[in-house]
Amino acid sequence: SAAEKDGYDYFMLKEIAEQPKAVADTLLGRIGTDGRLHLDEVRIPDQVLREVDKVVIIACGTSFHAAMIAKYAIEHWTRVPCEVELASEFRYRDPILDKQSLVVTISQSGETMDTLMAQRHAREQGAKVLAICNTNGSTMPREADAVLYTHAGPEVAVASTKAFLTQLVACYLVALYLGQVRGTKWGDEITEVIEQLAAMPEQVEKVLDTMEPVRELAHSLKDANSVLFLGRHVGFPVALEGALKLKELAYMHAEGFAAGELKHGPIALIEEGLPVVVVVPSPRGRSVLHDKIVSNIQEVRARGARTIVIAEEGDTAVEPYADHLIRIPATPVLLQPLVATVPLQVFACELATAKGHEVDQPRNLAKSVTVE
Ligand code: AGP
Repeated sequence: SAAEKDGYDYFMLKEIAEQPKAVADTLLGRIGTDGRLHLDEVRIPDQVLREVDKVVIIACGTSFHAAMIAKYAIEHWTRVPCEVELASEFRYRDPILDKQSLVVTISQSGETMDTLMAQRHAREQGAKVLAICNTNGSTMPREADAVLYTHAGPEVAVASTKAFLTQLVACYLVALYLGQVRGTKWGDEITEVIEQLAAMPEQVEKVLDTMEPVRELAHSLKDANSVLFLGRHVGFPVALEGALKLKELAYMHAEGFAAGELKHGPIALIEEGLPVVVVVPSPRGRSVLHDKIVSNIQEVRARGARTIVIAEEGDTAVEPYADHLIRIPATPVLLQPLVATVPLQVFACELATAKGHEVDQPRNLAKSVTVE
């Protein structure tokens, strides 16, 4: 009903708008005033976490994109090897797991059959399973060794938005917690990351306040046949997520690529007027990546692409090559997906609306996929 939508036309719009609160609720009580992580609910003994020799993260769809981002954070912050796999592939390739493996499943619903089956398989191999889940009392958290709930609140729209942002938060928390328990030597970078993580609700709010040009842009592209998304590092899964949203909602051909792969094939797709969305990593920190993506933008633009560039405030290097520039607040490199994904959600939602599609209930899709 209209009341349930809080005055928004669609649940998806309401859920996009709820993201600052969803992120704040998922952080609530989990970072102490001393900057230490408190995840007491993760009932896996510290000793077990200290002995973990690899992390394997399993999920489907949007939750899989959160898993991909988690890998960058876990390996960089804790130096524990981390694999990420689609749940539907995982179980059928005879994966190597034992009691020193920590398997993390990520699921909004907690009922996705592929992920549930993979989780069961992991437990049978003796791995410890931590479920990151948004639905209280659903099957995955009930069967897992431990659970870290995301507090996005009920997500009704088929396209996942606020659940995704809270999954990212949960992944960052797990990564930081793992490092804390294992006594990983951390410098100022982590102190800064924890502070900035706590400030993410306001950063997401800032992005939401500046979305009008993105809506206009989406409308102007409603007759495009195809849109490409490019990113590097954590921007790569963000690009995949932007493409998935556009497929689901606007029924358009959309693909996400690692920008470094362009010259290995996808650049052949570039033609006059093709919209190419580029997620630009922060120019601070890993600036090599930043410079590389700037040349990728130049390359596609030289071949006629219409470039839509998502870049940090103050990043002036991208300006000459951006046909459209979408600004996001500066964040630590690994946290950027929390702000970079938001314009892509708005873009897909708006483009779908412009095409006259029903955004909450896209064709052929179910909110939770309980069949294999
Ligand atoms: C997201 O927009 C999708 N509808 C879909 O990819 C979803 O993320 C996937 O089916 C996994 O669902 P889950 O998080 O409930 O396990």
